[in-house]
Amino acid sequence: MNKLHLKLLSLAAKGEIVPSQKLLKTPEQIEAIRRSADLNTAVLDYVGEHIKAGISTADIDRMVYGYTVSHGGVPAPLNYEGFPKSVCTSVNNVICHGIPSEEEILKEGDIINVDVSTILDGYFSDASRMFAIGSISPEASKLLRVTRECVDLGLKEARPWGHLGDIAHAINSHAQANGYRVVEEIGGHGIGLEFHEDPFVSYVTPKGSEMVLVPGMMFTIEPMINEGSPDFYIDEENGWTVYTVDGGLSAQIEYMVLITETGAEVLTR
Ligand code: MF3
Ligand code: CO
Repeated sequence: MNKLHLKLLSLAAKGEIVPSQKLLKTPEQIEAIRRSADLNTAVLDYVGEHIKAGISTADIDRMVYGYTVSHGGVPAPLNYEGFPKSVCTSVNNVICHGIPSEEEILKEGDIINVDVSTILDGYFSDASRMFAIGSISPEASKLLRVTRECVDLGLKEARPWGHLGDIAHAINSHAQANGYRVVEEIGGHGIGLEFHEDPFVSYVTPKGSEMVLVPGMMFTIEPMINEGSPDFYIDEENGWTVYTVDGGLSAQIEYMVLITETGAEVLTR
């Protein structure tokens, strides 16, 4: 038994939640996942260069599918648990899991989350960005700024031997200080060998709570920040699209991170 195993065993004996061995990626796995993550970032950059008023969210889906496949990857959402498209596109009051559609045309003033997930050589990566379509309201603009600040403050708390709850606390307190609410029941996840691995990552749990962060762990920081109520409902017809219950705006930014010996590295953002 090596030193790391002994340390994890003694933490577990003290009642701490520690990651299982399979959540700690090997250097070889990290290299392969890094390549997947680099393609994921390139897909997001490509979308960023072409997104504008007048295009449909189905156009974004085509960009993601075309760019990913022509670079040797597969879009992870496509056919994932029945999801029908290659990317999630969530506009204005849609919190997440928006399905690209020919009928949904982006217009000046919209805010949109584009959530891109990639499989390359069997390895998974995941990140999302917010885009402002033309000029947006001061309210929308503040929501995008604060959401970015939340994720960056959360990232600063991502370090070995800290806790997932440290990240959550930083995010939740900054959101609340700005009058916003963090969605509670939907969160982040481990990732790398599969699309969604343990642990579930909440952004509303207290500092010092939840799983201990250990070098080799990979997970997403992807809080959903609502202007108004944190509550939501899911589209009954498609079973996917998540809307704010009060029709208020929602924003989300997602980084995929690796816990290292000294801190955290963002693999794709
Ligand atoms: N990228 C989303 C996440 O962060 C994936 C949603 S599942 C999908 O977990 F099928 F809708 F893509
Ligand atoms: Co994710």
